[in-house]
Amino acid sequence: MAIQYQEHKKIFELHTKSSTYLIGITPEGYVGHIYYGKRLHREVSAYLLRTAEAPFTPEVNKREKVAFMDSFPMEYPVGGTGDYRESCFNVRNEKGQMGSELLYRTHEIYKGKKKLEGLPASFGNGEEVETLEITLADEVLGLETVLCYSVFEKEDMIARSIRVNNKGSETLLLEKVYSACLDMDNDAFEMISLCGGWARERNIQRTPLHYGKQSICSLRGESSHQEHPFIALVTPETTQKQGEVYAMHFVYSGNFLAQAEVSQFDSVRMVMGIHGEQFTWKLSSGESFQAPEVICTYSGEGLGKMSRSFHDFYRNHMIRSVYNHKKRPVLINNWEATYFDFDDEKLLDIAKEAKSCGIEMLVMDDGWFGKRNFDDNSLGDWVVNEEKIKGGLKKLVDQVNGIGLEFGIWFEPEMVSPDSELYRAHPDWALQIDGREGSMCRNQYVLDLSRAEIVDCVYESVAKILRNANVRYVKWDMNRQLTDLGSVCLDRERHKELFHRYVLGVYELQERLVTEFPELLLENCSGGGGRFDPGMLYYSPQIWCSDDTDAVERLAIQEGTALIYPLSAMGAHISDCPNHITGRVTPFETRGHVALAGSFGYELDITKIPEAEREMISGQVEMYHAYNDLVREGDYYRIASYHENNKFDAWAVSSKDKTEVLVTYVQVLAEPNRRSRKLYLQGFDECALYHLEGTEQVYSGEMLMYGGFLMEPMKGDYVSRLYYFIKE
Ligand code: GLA
Repeated sequence: MAIQYQEHKKIFELHTKSSTYLIGITPEGYVGHIYYGKRLHREVSAYLLRTAEAPFTPEVNKREKVAFMDSFPMEYPVGGTGDYRESCFNVRNEKGQMGSELLYRTHEIYKGKKKLEGLPASFGNGEEVETLEITLADEVLGLETVLCYSVFEKEDMIARSIRVNNKGSETLLLEKVYSACLDMDNDAFEMISLCGGWARERNIQRTPLHYGKQSICSLRGESSHQEHPFIALVTPETTQKQGEVYAMHFVYSGNFLAQAEVSQFDSVRMVMGIHGEQFTWKLSSGESFQAPEVICTYSGEGLGKMSRSFHDFYRNHMIRSVYNHKKRPVLINNWEATYFDFDDEKLLDIAKEAKSCGIEMLVMDDGWFGKRNFDDNSLGDWVVNEEKIKGGLKKLVDQVNGIGLEFGIWFEPEMVSPDSELYRAHPDWALQIDGREGSMCRNQYVLDLSRAEIVDCVYESVAKILRNANVRYVKWDMNRQLTDLGSVCLDRERHKELFHRYVLGVYELQERLVTEFPELLLENCSGGGGRFDPGMLYYSPQIWCSDDTDAVERLAIQEGTALIYPLSAMGAHISDCPNHITGRVTPFETRGHVALAGSFGYELDITKIPEAEREMISGQVEMYHAYNDLVREGDYYRIASYHENNKFDAWAVSSKDKTEVLVTYVQVLAEPNRRSRKLYLQGFDECALYHLEGTEQVYSGEMLMYGGFLMEPMKGDYVSRLYYFIKE
């Protein structure tokens, strides 16, 4: 049993394979956090709630309730009644007064896990997950807050979420409903987060905690390129292989806050949820509000263990697509090949050449619809441009299929160009503020997806295309962040619901899409990797990692992404050089090795690249087929980080039974007059012998891991090698 309740001690015990989470209830009914960490096997106790030391509990000392509230390790802290640290829950009554007090009322433990209404969330059957729901109640407001903990024992994960039920008679205004809180003693923690910008998403950042609040957030309407809804607190000695890690990852694709706060008493409060700054939710009597899910994990064995737990968890309990455990077709996308300048003939030329190299799918990117030859028009007019695609889409798809390739297509359904038939017919469908000209970004506005009729229309225009041609893949793009948060349909009290309602609209669109087209391979995208989050993974098994396809830039982007996401989720393509964003020239082989760590494909004009490179493609496709099962399903180990050492990068993927290990090494900068570089490999069975493919060499697993592996001397910058070890 993963979850137990000790009635006499009033303690909830949540156990995963290697962690334990303890929750206690005080005599007054405050629900507090006792412990999260290494798996405990024997008697547990509630003394870590510190209710026996000053300032004592309110029942013992009636004068000092505020002091108690401000130091007690709360499971779900509320604002307005004495806890001055970051609150997770702020609610106003009809008079506008803010404050609540949530005390234990009841609980339920059951096998399995419920769906979250309208939201992406992890899933599992009764064998895989067990759920605890603790209902807290505020007697004055007649409000219930349900704290949900779903324990995935095998993957060491706890999925947390909050449901608020207004059972009173007043209409309440929820001003903040975060999804998770973790109150712990500070252990000289450092905070890891992922940050960056367009074309340099999810770079790893690590900083020591200091007194006060340190947060990362998005108020851009999407999870964003700039910051990522993930934080981990780690002890100072933490590396890939050792140290303690407490991580939270938000299953949500909109505004968020992730924060750690060190208090006056050296406790740390870690919180995560929808950002409170642009949020309120009006909750009438009888209504409920569901806050999104946070995935929490503890690793006592460093960051590597954390990554592998997240990878397994997302592959087993978040990605629903039929492609989750399948090899994805090797695709060629025409964006960097042609940008807007293409027609059916050009695409067919690319398709023919691609077919001869073993590529399996052609993806037609932006520019096929309306009158779009540049990014300043036609978004919203999802009708094929027959001047470019002569004879229509179906004809082109049939021709591409005839060549022997599958067909994929690009959409940007959430947007509208001012110069479009859609905007001319419905100017009020764009998000906008009365009397102000909308702030333009990439020449486009954002559709008001809080409105059901707009969601319906957008869905139908996408689905109509898919119903009428044999389209096997969709790239769903979103190329600007939200501004001008106004909807003609919302009143003053509800306007701060708009950001969240927008995200719910996106989820509804994608849910409909994957329901009507369950066999479709969906790849989410947002100006590269601006909406790479677990919420999107629920709908699409892969997400475009970044518009930056430079093999060297990709090292840091993919390292940061793989810190949490399985390699199979990372959209990665080989593009042409000089790279379109950085101007850097890297060997074609290195570009292939780097893209192999993701979904793998091409993004170049195969009819124009140098002959020598074109000739390498069929070998790369073979390489993908040889190793993708391992890369997609295996255990990932970070061996070295270019981001940290500025010279070289290395990672390994090991099969679950450790019979095969694939090591990728990239020498970014060559150095003169050095001895062979030694890498301490990981992921081997220390009792086994391994043969290194392409050589006569046999190594023992323990020697490779503890003695190290010597890299052959390599000349040149940006050169790479693959090493495939197979157990003897
Ligand atoms: C975004 C995507 C690119 C491409 C363009 C098309 O930037 O990330 O891959 O699809 O849009 O406009």
